Amino acid sequence: MFAKRTNWNLESNRLSAALAAHRAAGKPLIDLTVSNPTECGFRYDEEAILGALQNPAALKYEPNPRGLATARSAVARYYAERGAQVSVDNIFLTTSTSEAYSFVFRTLCDSQDELLIPQPSYPLFEFLADIQDVRLVRYPLIYDYGWQIDFHALEQAITPRTRGVIVVHPNNPTGHFCKLEEMRKLNEICGARELTIVADEVFLDFAVKPDAEPPTFAGNSGALTFTMSGLSKICGLPQMKAAWLIVSGPGQSKSETSAELSSSSGTQAVAAQASARIEVIADTFLSMNAPIQLAIPSFLVQRRGFQKQLMERVRGNLVELDHQLAKQKSCTRMAVEGGWNAVIRVPATRSDEDLALELLAIRGIYVHPGHFYDFATQGYLVVSLIAGLHDFAKGMESLLSLF
Ligand SMILES: Cc1ncc(COP(=O)(O)O)c(C=O)c1O
Repeated sequence: MFAKRTNWNLESNRLSAALAAHRAAGKPLIDLTVSNPTECGFRYDEEAILGALQNPAALKYEPNPRGLATARSAVARYYAERGAQVSVDNIFLTTSTSEAYSFVFRTLCDSQDELLIPQPSYPLFEFLADIQDVRLVRYPLIYDYGWQIDFHALEQAITPRTRGVIVVHPNNPTGHFCKLEEMRKLNEICGARELTIVADEVFLDFAVKPDAEPPTFAGNSGALTFTMSGLSKICGLPQMKAAWLIVSGPGQSKSETSAELSSSSGTQAVAAQASARIEVIADTFLSMNAPIQLAIPSFLVQRRGFQKQLMERVRGNLVELDHQLAKQKSCTRMAVEGGWNAVIRVPATRSDEDLALELLAIRGIYVHPGHFYDFATQGYLVVSLIAGLHDFAKGMESLLSLF
C-alpha cells in the first residue's frame, strides 16, 4: 500500500524508549541534549515579537514565489551587516531550512543521484534524502587539534551520480567552521566538476571567539552555491517557521538579477537557471504565510539580544566544562569553534548507547551518544552548551564521576 521510501523502522530505539519510561515515571532528569531555545530560559523581546505579528498588511494576499520583498530586503541587510553583498533577487524565503534542503534536492537530483554529506553531522539528512529519493554519501571530517574536511576522501567519494557537496558551516555537532582555504578548495573541486555547494549556515552567528566573523557562502561564485539559514537558530525562533535559500554562482554579478541575466545573455548563468527552477518549485507551494514574512524584519532586529544571551550561556558552559575536565584524566573535549554543542571524548569501554543508557538509568542524565550524529567509532558523547548553567554543571559533574 505504501511507497518503499517510507519503509522506516518506526520502533523507538532503546535510548528513546528508556527516556520516555524515565519521564513517565516522573524521575528527576537533567537533559543535556536541549536544543529548543524557547525552553532554555532566554529572555525574548515579547512586545517586539508579538507586535510584529499584528501588521495590518497581513490582511492582503500578495503571492510571490520568492517571498515578500520587504522580508527579503531584511535578509539581504543581515548579510550586508556581515560584509556580504546579496541581491534580494537571489533570495527565496522558505518555511524552514529543511524545506530549503528539499527544494535544493529536488532541483539537483534525479532518483538515486548522490549528495555528499559530512560525517559526523546532523541526523535530519537521512530523512530528507529518503523523502526525496536521494542517496547520501559520506565524506569524513578529521580531527587533528581541530576539525577539518578530509579532501582526499571527499574527492574519492565523488561518482558520476554526485550532484553536490553539503557543508554545514559551522557543522553540528563538531562546531567547526569551514576555513577560507577549505572554501577555496571546495570551489575548485565543485567548479571543475559542475557540482553544487550546498551550505547550511544556521549556526553562522554563533562563533565561540567573541570577535570572530566567519565568512559566509552567500554570494559564493566559485561554483553553483545554495546557502541556507533561518530564524530558528539566528533569532531563536523555531516556532515562527521562517528560513531562506540564496542562489549564487559563476558569472553572476552581485547586483544583476536573474531576469537581467536571462535577457542580457543568450546562455543564462547557471545560478539564474537554478533560480528559475527553484522559482517553479516555490511557486507550486507558496508555503510562506503573510504575517510571518511581514514580521521577519523585526524578528531579525531582535536577534542581537538573543544571540548575546545565548553566547554568554555557551561560553559559560565551556568554561565550566574545562574546569571540570581539568580535575580528571579520563575524558577530554574536542575543540569547539561555534554552534550549540560540545563533543566529549570518553573511554570506549562499552558502546556509547550503553553509556548513555547507564547515565540515564543511574544518574538521571540524558546525553546523545556519538552515533546519533553519525560518529563512525565509539567513545563520543554530545552535550548541549545551551543547557542552563546550573543543570550543565551538575550534569557534567555527575557524568564525569562515572569514569
Ligand atoms: C545544521 C542544522 N541545519 C538545519 C537545522 C534545521 O533548521 P530549521 O528549523 O530551519 O529546519 C538544524 C536543526 O537543528 C541544524 O542543526
